[in-house]
Amino acid sequence: MTSFDAIENLQEAAKRNLWLHFTRMSAYEQSDVPVIVRGSGAYVFDQHGKRYLDGLSGLFVTQVGHGRQEIAEAGARQAAELAYFPLWSYAHPKAIELAARLAELAPGNLNRVFFTTSGSEAVESAWKLAKQYFKLTGQPGRYKVISRDIAYHGTSMGALAITGLADIKHPFEPLLPGGVRVPNTNFYRAPDFLAGDETEFGRWAADEIERAILREGPQSVAAVFLEPVQNSGGCFPPPPGYFQRVREICDRYGVLLVSDEVICAFGRLGYYFGSQRYEYQPDIITFAKGVTSGYSPLGGMLVSDALMEPFSSGTATFLHGITFAGHPVSTAVALANLDIFEKEDLLGNVRANEAAFRATLEKLYDLPIVGDIRGAGYFYGIEMVKDKVTRETFTDDESERLLRGFLSQALFDAGLVCRADDRGDPVIQLAPPLICGQEHFDEIEAILRTVLTEAWTRI
Ligand SMILES: Cc1ncc(COP(=O)(O)O)c(C=O)c1O
Repeated sequence: MTSFDAIENLQEAAKRNLWLHFTRMSAYEQSDVPVIVRGSGAYVFDQHGKRYLDGLSGLFVTQVGHGRQEIAEAGARQAAELAYFPLWSYAHPKAIELAARLAELAPGNLNRVFFTTSGSEAVESAWKLAKQYFKLTGQPGRYKVISRDIAYHGTSMGALAITGLADIKHPFEPLLPGGVRVPNTNFYRAPDFLAGDETEFGRWAADEIERAILREGPQSVAAVFLEPVQNSGGCFPPPPGYFQRVREICDRYGVLLVSDEVICAFGRLGYYFGSQRYEYQPDIITFAKGVTSGYSPLGGMLVSDALMEPFSSGTATFLHGITFAGHPVSTAVALANLDIFEKEDLLGNVRANEAAFRATLEKLYDLPIVGDIRGAGYFYGIEMVKDKVTRETFTDDESERLLRGFLSQALFDAGLVCRADDRGDPVIQLAPPLICGQEHFDEIEAILRTVLTEAWTRI
């Protein structure tokens, strides 16, 4: 029998047997794997008892914070009553109740919920639904999907074909055909001829979707996948009017608009759904992460009545399913999570405090390395530059030294969980739990100030 009581045993086994995701494992040859053992509120604690402010909500997940007894108990009660039953031909009460509750919260006519266990599966499901929907409605040639440069939509083969990050796609090529890329809404890096006018930039970026549809042939395009605020690249909010224009374009060519809200739903932007903040009506919303605040895995897609229609009568069946999707424990947990949203008015907390969060982060503009601070709600990216005036970014070597060689570890050592990411230009990303307030913003700012000041001396 193996005992993991001793911290050294845990370390040894972590290095010997565990494979971390998107992680250069060689980084832990010389140093310890960080082991997080418990959480409470906005903080987590490692195996040595050291406390960290969870400035990323784990991975954009833990909206209500850690250690919520009532959610844990809701999960335990459900496991005792009915631990598992599939949603293949059967229903169970918590899946029904959660579907009805999500339909109530969702914008417009998104009344139908298809559950998954993750965000990638939600994205994958949305693409499959779009394809089968068009086959059933006499437009079998529509299979292509449009998404934005550097956008992350998941790692399963279908979702990866929608993802716009070349580096994480290359090892797995050839991917599913039909993924088409358009520019994202990074206004800080807008082309020169649009640099002064965000609305014009937004119109151009939306019109690039129309150009892509025309280039590909409208009869071949099934859907456009967009996040309300694009995560990868460092939180690109939509310019004013962008989504309204995209909606018009999708309607003009009969293309479905999928709002990928795996990060942006459940309060991250101060609304249950990001599309509500920016006032557009998607045909499908994909969600995961915050729906349970991570107390159990769950994802899904919300679908309009119109999309459901061809499947509502006769022999048509959506030929897709996942064993653990809509798991009883996860759906019970999601309901308890949403109860906390209501009881504590977490959306209200985000809306009341988001300006203070932004203002606190913007104090960092006095540092020479801070080029741009952008985002919305409790979701921000800080882009680091070598030269604030010219907006010159770092070379690959500098980025490697700065991010992997110093920043990630230094921020963690200083007690802040956040993300230093260079999949686009180098950014630090923040997405604290929705319970956070000024004292947490101040703590985040103080740690970033110290570490970024040190980073500047190392370039
Ligand atoms: C916008 C978006 N879509 C899809 C995914 C994939 O979700 P998962 O990791 O749960 O498969 C993510 C994950 O971060 C995401 O941010």
